[in-house]
Formats: sequence, C-alpha cells, structure tokens
Amino acid sequence: MDKLLIRGGQRLNGEVPISGAKNAALPELCAALLSAEPLTLTNVPRLQDVSTTLKLLRNMGVAAEPGATEDALVLDASRVTLTEAPYELVKTMRASILVLGPLLARFGRARVSLPGGCAIGSRPVDQHIKGLQAMGAEIRVEHGYIVAEASRLQGARITTDMVTVTGTENLLMAACLAEGETVLENAAQEPEVSDLAEMLIAMGARIEGHGTRRITVQGVESLHGASHHIVPDRIEAGTFLCAVAATGGDVVLRRANAAHLTTVIEKLREAGIDIESGDDWIRVRGSGRPKAVSFRTSEYPSFPTDMQAQFMALNCIAEGSSRVTETIFENRFMHVNELTRLGAQIEVDGHTAIVHGVERLSGATVMATDLRASASLVIGGLVADGETLVDRIYHLDRGYDRMESKLRAIGAQIERVGRAP
Ligand code: EPZ
Repeated sequence: MDKLLIRGGQRLNGEVPISGAKNAALPELCAALLSAEPLTLTNVPRLQDVSTTLKLLRNMGVAAEPGATEDALVLDASRVTLTEAPYELVKTMRASILVLGPLLARFGRARVSLPGGCAIGSRPVDQHIKGLQAMGAEIRVEHGYIVAEASRLQGARITTDMVTVTGTENLLMAACLAEGETVLENAAQEPEVSDLAEMLIAMGARIEGHGTRRITVQGVESLHGASHHIVPDRIEAGTFLCAVAATGGDVVLRRANAAHLTTVIEKLREAGIDIESGDDWIRVRGSGRPKAVSFRTSEYPSFPTDMQAQFMALNCIAEGSSRVTETIFENRFMHVNELTRLGAQIEVDGHTAIVHGVERLSGATVMATDLRASASLVIGGLVADGETLVDRIYHLDRGYDRMESKLRAIGAQIERVGRAP
C-alpha cells in the first residue's frame, strides 16, 4: 500500500505543468463509442481513472493505442463486441456510467453495472435513467445491473431534478445520435461539459448552448472521427494554488486556464494571496499567514465542491475562523477528522464546518478517504511541522497526474514509500 512521506515547512517556488482534466478525459474516452471512426485525444492525463476507463473500453472491443506524442491516445470503436460494463470494473470507478448513453445511442442496447455509492455520498444515477427513458429507452434494473434497450432514441425535452455533471454528459452524448431535437434544461455548465460538447461538435454533432443551463441538440445519423485536445484540469490547478497559498512561495502554473477558476481565485485573493494570470498561465505568490475565508460549494460557476477539501486545508492555518458549507454531496467532510490529527481545529455541524485557524499544524500519520480529501492532507502535510505520512494514496492516484514529482520539482520534501501498487 503506497504512502506519501512529507516533511513540512518548505516554501514552494518554480513552475508546474498542469495536466489535462480528469473530468473531461473520462466522458471523452467514453464518447469514442459513438463513432466507428478513430478519435484522437491529446493532453490525456496519466491517471488511474483513465487506465480504468481504457480497461472498460478495451473489454468491449474498443482499440486504444498510444498516439504520436506521450500524452496522446487513438481510440477505435469500429469493432465493439460487447455492450456491457461489468461490476468488477464499475465498482472501482463510478464514472463508468458514462458508457450508458453512448452504447444506447449507437448500438441500441447496454448492460451497465449500477455504480455503488462512494465515500462522499450515495450518488444515485436516477437522473441518467429518467432522461434516457424520456428518450424512449426501455430500462430495467436487475441483479445490480442497468439493462437498457432502444431501437432508436428519440429527441426529448428533459429537465433534470438537480444539476448533474455526468447526467448532463450521458444525456448529451445520447442525444447526438437520437432522432430529432433534444433540449436539456437545468444542464451542468462545468468547463468539462463544454469541452465534451466541443469535441462532439468536432465529430459532427449539432449542439448549441453548452456552458449554459439549456443545451439543444439536433440528432444526426452518425458521428465521424476527430482529434481533440483535452481542457486543462482546473481542480489540479486549484489544488496547487491552495498548496502555494498555504506554504508561501512563488509558483507559475503552466497550461492552466484562470477563466475556469474565477471563484477560487476570488476567494484566494480575499485570503490575501497574490494571483496574476494570462491566457495559459497562473502565477501565485503566498507570503505570511493567509486570512480565513468562508465559502459554500455549489454548481459551476460557483465555488466547486472538488476544491472544498483543499481550501479547507488552507483555512486550517489561516488567521481567524471560517465557515465552509458543502451543498452538493452529503458526506464530503471525511478529511476533517484527518486534518484534526494534524492539529487543525474544526467543528462540523451538518453541512457546515467551522474552521478555527491555528499558527502551526504538526505532522502525523493520516489516512486518505477519497480523492480530494487526500489532496487536502498533502497540503496539510506540506505546512505541518515535522513528518506527515499519508496512507491509502491510491485515492490520490485516481485523479492527480504525478503529484509528488510535480511538488518535488518546486521544492517540497515529499516521496512515495511502501510497496509499488
Ligand atoms: C461529477 O460527479 C464529478 N465527476 C465529480 O468529481 C464532482 O464532484 C461532481 O460532478 C460535482 O461537480 C466526474 O465528472 C467524473 P453530479 P457526478 O451528478 O456527475 C445528485 C472528483 O473529485 N445526483 O453532478 O457523479 C448527486 O448525488 C469527482 O473529481 C442524483 O441525485 O456528480 C449529487 O448530490 C468527485 N441523481 C448531485 O446530484 C443523479 O442521477 C450532483 O452530482 C445524479 C446526481
């Protein structure tokens, strides 16, 4: 079981290359199922979740080969032999549900294991199912599997009960090959949804309104191949911004898009952090103790739930107290107990955590519980006195591309210990 050993107290200085967005790469890999022609993706991040998705697609008969550059992949779904996502694979990654829409749209059938819940919540997929049924799919759930059939999906007007990122993505992909017009009301506006839409348009889809709450799709007979460069990972970028804000230092993030992080950048400036940005870079300078800043998570473009744990780690060593309110997931405070082991003072009351900033954290052994919680513990370890050992960092490897080597390159004392996976 891999662990990260961190010796805290180092300021961070230098440059960090930001990788392609995990939450764009996963739907875009699944979208390869929509066409019989090759899809080339570049800026593909090296993540466990990407490897899992490729295993899932190869299991169906999709060919996935390295492209011309190290970060490129070429996918070929011209010989799909199985329209099924088995439990063994889906249980390790909920985003496997993203094959449901494409399989139904192109092949008219799909058998996808119900994704279990996960650490941060029950995470149902009822909106995915409801939307596909509105498009004419016959769907039943049996033996833990979603079994879906549709001779040809029909366009429909669909209003999801809440904003759902992968729900929007599944329905968007299905609508591309449905007959007629589909209108998705209450659509997710996350940049990763827009990036998927741009890729689908490059494949011949007819989509308007992505990036707003209403997306309109005119279905087409088929989609052709395309090449697509994956949007930078705004959550990886935000994670590094919080790390430098906490440790102090001067770092430039390369290939980062500040326009996708406006609320996080606003809150960091409120904390007294100096941030400048250009078209594809963000410079962050931290000096002295940050000020405590309250925030509440909500759908894009509001403060992202995926940045809640990382910003809370910053608040732990800030001057003053702050209120952190999580409105998206019902159980996304598991990092609180572990941050407390580092000496943080946090009280949880339902969906709100009150963080009382302390001067110093002290290193300890802590355990990662989910992807973004592990990132917050790494930030805690970077600022704690002495050594911090973060256990179960397979959570981190799911969604961060070579985090410890990127941190070492800007001065952190951090190394991976324990048996290789
Ligand atoms: C996506 O998850 C992201 N994952 C999550 O990132 C992110 O936290 C989340 O969106 C919110 O931004 C990917 O894109 C692969 P939702 P998703 O459907 O789509 C409820 C990370 O750390 N809901 O937008 O699963 C749901 O329970 C991960 O990178 C239903 O009730 O999230 C939640 O309360 C974690 N029924 C809310 O909606 C449904 O059918 C938003 O969930 C669907 C969702």
